Amino acid sequence: MGAGFSGEVATYYARHRRGYPPEVLDALVGAFGLGPGDTVVDLGCGTGQLSLPLAARVGAVIGVDPEPDMLALARQAAHNTARPDAARPDATWLLGDDSDLPALGRLLGDRMIGALTVAVAIHFMDRDALFRAVRPMLRPGGGIAVVTNGAPLWLQDAEWSRVLRECLERLIGHPVTGTCQTDGAGRLRNRDALVRAGYRYAESLVEYDAPLTIDDMVGGVFSAMSADRLPSTPDRATFTEEVRDALGGRDRVTERVRVWLQFGTTGSARSGRPSASGRTRPA
Ligand SMILES: C[S@@+](CC[C@H](N)C(=O)[O-])C[C@H]1O[C@@H](n2cnc3c(N)ncnc32)[C@H](O)[C@@H]1O
Repeated sequence: MGAGFSGEVATYYARHRRGYPPEVLDALVGAFGLGPGDTVVDLGCGTGQLSLPLAARVGAVIGVDPEPDMLALARQAAHNTARPDAARPDATWLLGDDSDLPALGRLLGDRMIGALTVAVAIHFMDRDALFRAVRPMLRPGGGIAVVTNGAPLWLQDAEWSRVLRECLERLIGHPVTGTCQTDGAGRLRNRDALVRAGYRYAESLVEYDAPLTIDDMVGGVFSAMSADRLPSTPDRATFTEEVRDALGGRDRVTERVRVWLQFGTTGSARSGRPSASGRTRPA
């Protein structure tokens, strides 16, 4: 199973990828009126970047991912997140992919979910089949959120990103162009598929500046390679030094992070079907 996020790649991912700021959580919660009565399925949850802060805002999160190493680190993070005086986030981790959603729906039976989130993972999935399969699992007023977390580090409109791209292309020996569908064309595909599946569509952008250390920049690059393509340990160290030198010995740069949220919402909550907790949610 998995899509290459195994072993050391999973470790790089957990250590070096950004999480999501509170504004993103606010937007998710606001779009579907999520609360303590809701269960959310975070599909392609990876190491829990979105699942964990989300679990603190809703009743429970089910993180689903085909890569066991990513899930193991998500679970570990959930355990580490819990302060001794606080409850552990209510998160459950399931090995599976987008094709397993119908089976999860049958397992949940009448217990409906508040939302399905797909963050930086939709490009791996069959959108049309997924969006159709999830619809009967959603409570009224709930929906699907497709989320990006910035463009790939080597494809951004900034001098440091162009420098990184040059170093990366020297390392791997060919141009790097894939956007992982974080661009306008990718968003259009998501929007069209949500509308085709009968959801009401809306989108929102959370934008902010944040420091990016050279270690996180390079770790972010390694977290995007498949495990069998990672350079040797000495080559990784050489690459890190090359990037640092090419950036004039700087320790960090500033990244403009753009998080796009695309929402597909079901009909009004007024019809009052029960949520995953069994409670009826207000409109
Ligand atoms: C780039 S990571 C995103 C992790 C996390 N959601 C985040 O926001 O940082 C993509 C994740 O999607 C998972 N994935 C790949 N193919 C998938 C599929 N068909 N269904 C569900 N998840 C998949 C990968 O294993 C990986 O953990």
